Amino acid sequence: MSRLDVFIDRMVSQRACLDFAIAETAALPGPVFELGLGNGRTYHHLRERIAGRDIYVFERRIASHPDSTPSPEFTILGDVTETLPRALERFGPTASLIHADLGGHNLAKNDQFARKVSPLIEPMLAPGGIMVSSDRMYFEGLEELPLPEGAVEGRCFVYRR
Ligand SMILES: C[S@@+](CC[C@H](N)C(=O)[O-])C[C@H]1O[C@@H](n2cnc3c(N)ncnc32)[C@H](O)[C@@H]1O
Repeated sequence: MSRLDVFIDRMVSQRACLDFAIAETAALPGPVFELGLGNGRTYHHLRERIAGRDIYVFERRIASHPDSTPSPEFTILGDVTETLPRALERFGPTASLIHADLGGHNLAKNDQFARKVSPLIEPMLAPGGIMVSSDRMYFEGLEELPLPEGAVEGRCFVYRR
């Protein structure tokens, strides 16, 4: 499998999982959290498809496309290992949807980081809330859901409280 194949599978899976999660959580009023803005493509997708819910972005350093840059009141700047605990104090367990795409090219490092942030992410989800991740997460109390149609095994993971 070429890197191009892997990239395409990842993009197609992100879209399928996000669309599934958006539809499944449509009745929940709580905020949406995008962890890792990057270029802002998935943030833009969320913004286009979600109505009536605030979308907050967590990012170390903003470097997104101008069309896909959140306004300052919806930007939570800093390392997620520090900003997630503060966000839990601020929002409580209210998130309707959390999307994490924090990884880079080093799969072992991504896995190590997923283990570190899983316990920080888990308490932020509201009952019925969904978490979509590009990396396997390590939750104690969330259910891993089967992938929606169109997503490729191993390229995306979906969890529900
Ligand atoms: C793969 S990119 C996200 C791409 C995005 N989903 C898109 O569609 O454009 C990952 C982003 O996560 C951010 N990131 C990685 N680790 C982080 C951390 N510990 N705290 C905050 N941001 C982090 C990086 O700065 C990078 O911008």
